Amino acid sequence: MSGNVFGSAFRVMTFGESHGPFIGLVLDGLKPGLPIDTDQIQFELNRRRPGQSSVVTPRKETDQAEIISGIFEGKTTGTPICILIKNRDQRPGDYRKLQHILRPGHAAYAFLQKYGIFDYRGGGRASGRETATRVAAGAVAKQILKNRGVEIIGFTQRIGDIEAQTIDLTEIEKNPVRTADRQAAVKMTQAILQAQQEGDSLGGVIEIRVKNCPAGLGEPVFNKLEADLAQLLMSIGAVKAFEMGDGFQASHLMGSEFNDAFYFDHKQKRFRTRTHHGGGVLGGISHGEDLIMRIAVKPPSSITKEQDTVDIQGNPVKLSIEGRHDPCICPRIVPVAEAMVALVLVDHILMQDRLSQGFSLTEIRDQIDVLDTQLLLLLAQRRNLIRKIAAYKAKNFRKIHDTKREEDKTKQWREQARALDIPEDLADSLLRSILADSHQLQGNILK
Ligand SMILES: Cc1cc2nc3c(=O)[nH]c(=O)nc-3n(C[C@H](O)[C@H](O)[C@H](O)COP(=O)(O)O)c2cc1C
Repeated sequence: MSGNVFGSAFRVMTFGESHGPFIGLVLDGLKPGLPIDTDQIQFELNRRRPGQSSVVTPRKETDQAEIISGIFEGKTTGTPICILIKNRDQRPGDYRKLQHILRPGHAAYAFLQKYGIFDYRGGGRASGRETATRVAAGAVAKQILKNRGVEIIGFTQRIGDIEAQTIDLTEIEKNPVRTADRQAAVKMTQAILQAQQEGDSLGGVIEIRVKNCPAGLGEPVFNKLEADLAQLLMSIGAVKAFEMGDGFQASHLMGSEFNDAFYFDHKQKRFRTRTHHGGGVLGGISHGEDLIMRIAVKPPSSITKEQDTVDIQGNPVKLSIEGRHDPCICPRIVPVAEAMVALVLVDHILMQDRLSQGFSLTEIRDQIDVLDTQLLLLLAQRRNLIRKIAAYKAKNFRKIHDTKREEDKTKQWREQARALDIPEDLADSLLRSILADSHQLQGNILK
């Protein structure tokens, strides 16, 4: 099985299955010394965990992250980060009576076609359980982004036909469906419970926004930022569509309506766009506005409502799926989607860092700081030598000023400065200050 790894500069590999002893991940590509709060990894896992409310599966998993390597005393060590999560509440027996039945909307049939293996025990690698590893990886990525001022916020925008009408980001974590509209939250919750009572399930739409996304992320051809975002978001089980900015709606607009007009923001001293139809990317590259994207989530396939299907011999069967399933995946997909966006952004940021090695403002300033320190160290060394000369002169009764030497020195200094393209004024004033300091030092010692 391939396709378990994502990323170029920042690589993640996930492993494990829903009914094995562990699931886990390995993250590679981070430099040492980056602060990582392991409580924050657990916090994100708790947001995705089953059994957190009445509208998600009651499977009992504590999803405790075990940090195996790569983080020591709250900082990255630069070695691969490995995190394990134990599966505690596997019940493969729940699935035994389904072992010969093709479940509509379920991945098992496609797995049979591809691998010749029919794993009836609740999804294996295709299970929503695998996404716990992605959330743990995303929690590391989110902290790297936070240190750069970047924040990712996901919320349920629609469940079934019930759409959020207002967006109040402070509401998201206060309701079980993770929507940003308090009133819609009540209706959405009722709709999910109603569908569940009827033995059915519901889909919806999740919106993800990235605040303070730096400009310049994304490559112009195969790794356009939205192409990589689409890849990871579409890799989440049950996600059926992705859109950036206005997405499909853009096809209804005229160019004059869709184009995001530029202006210069004098307060922020940067160019901005008045509207955000493009979702913050142009030519596959972020341009400094917030990113806005959405994903469509299908209604989960495991439902108790009776469905017509066949067994693997092709005989008709009436199917009602028991067991512990999500009646709507949206509330649990929100943290998974945020994690996917975080992984893509960190990967692109690290690629961009490599590209601009030595060219970014911060890096150039760092180099200047190093040179300034060297200048001061050299000056300090010079002053020590002056003190030695003064001591020598005192011992040997030599006069303080050697006019001839100073004249020669000035001549030589000017010639060297000219050759190095250093302005004469600057060279002269520097030498004057240095010589004045030397005279003072010698004078003090010889007094
Ligand atoms: C967090 C999460 C929880 C999920 N829970 C369920 C579930 O309880 N029942 C179900 O049928 N599918 C569930 N799914 C969806 C399946 O994993 C998904 O439908 C399956 O992998 C097939 O992939 P596809 O729908 O993209 O074709 C869940 C997905 C996620 C991300």
